[in-house]
Amino acid sequence: MLPEYFSERILKVEESPTFALERKVDEIDARLKQEGKSVIRFGIGQPDFNTPDNIKDAGKKAICENRTKYTASTGIRELKEAIVEKFKKDNNIDYEISNILVGNGAKQVLDDIMRVFINHGDTVIIPRPFWVSYSQQVILSGGIPGFVNFKDDLKIDIDHLKHMIYSSKGKGSRRKLFILNSPNNPSGVVYSREELEEIGRICLENNIYIIADEVYENFLYGAKKHYSMASFRDEFKSITITINAVSKSYAMTGWRIGYCGADSRIIKQMTKVQDQSTSNPCSIAQWAALEALSGDQDSVEVMRKEYQKRRDYIYKRISSIKKMECSLPGGAFYLFPKVSGFFGVRIKNSFDFADVLLEEANVAVVPGGAFGADEYVRISYAASMEKIKEGLDRIEEFCRNL
Ligand SMILES: Cc1ncc(COP(=O)(O)O)c(C=O)c1O
Repeated sequence: MLPEYFSERILKVEESPTFALERKVDEIDARLKQEGKSVIRFGIGQPDFNTPDNIKDAGKKAICENRTKYTASTGIRELKEAIVEKFKKDNNIDYEISNILVGNGAKQVLDDIMRVFINHGDTVIIPRPFWVSYSQQVILSGGIPGFVNFKDDLKIDIDHLKHMIYSSKGKGSRRKLFILNSPNNPSGVVYSREELEEIGRICLENNIYIIADEVYENFLYGAKKHYSMASFRDEFKSITITINAVSKSYAMTGWRIGYCGADSRIIKQMTKVQDQSTSNPCSIAQWAALEALSGDQDSVEVMRKEYQKRRDYIYKRISSIKKMECSLPGGAFYLFPKVSGFFGVRIKNSFDFADVLLEEANVAVVPGGAFGADEYVRISYAASMEKIKEGLDRIEEFCRNL
């Protein structure tokens, strides 16, 4: 057998903790099935709703009309026009067709950006807690993730951000990119306009591009409002790449359509990546995404209301558990409670907590350590109310006996 000639880069990349957890849960589930039991899955960030019928019909129609050939590598014109319209209407951002790129989910769009910007050893600034793929995509492109601390409210520590930027001026690795994710996965934190403007000013003054990942923009609760960095002023727009997807908003995770708006010079470089790596995202999924963005939007509100109901329920029950601390998330579909009150001899960190919870109570949650916040765990409430109730009964009993 030949030696393992794997690249140094790939050997540094970790497997996705959420997908790894799903694999483990599948194994345990198969075992439990024989006893008539099952794992309650609060792990993966996957809407439990089905894709709305009007969108599925558009997909079927695309197949029947033989829209099954290669398309332009960055998406069909009709979809790009709908995205331009969406950005105008929902986000108050004026993009043109040349500013739009469609990819295989927000994930590919993000990966395109990393490949376009990162030189070996460049640092990408990522506030903790962060979505798991950001840091690994940076490493895959030869960069270094530079993590910014968070405050008690789980929002970015601006002083630490400034310190990180100013203390590195003129030396070492270059900082060109900052990743902003509001509403946030895993914390559910939603940034206010003032907070975003402050971040925007810091990035602008320091010639740092902002990747604004807005995939959870439609899931906001209470009085929370979503603001897009690129909508505030032209200078911010020029340094911001606004990312979105149909995955979460329209329960279309498997269709794999994400998109972005950015300066056309950036889009041009990203186009080269898609031309040479994947070509176009699935043609059928693009026609379905067109219906998602331009068709009836009622289903989004139905899902939002249901998530809000679940958030309120799950928050109330988790907050009443002794030694668990939790803040009320303003958006997305995750709760991010602090579980460090349970750390001791047997459970030393969030990975142990999630492991023991899975093995003993058969509930799957993602350890906060995977998101750069080891005192926490992430509970996804993209699960039915029935499952949520059962899962919480198990978590309560588990914590009582710890
Ligand atoms: C914050 C964030 N960005 C991007 C993505 C990727 O979305 P997509 O499924 O469209 O690739 C996810 C998926 O979990 C996410 O949570």
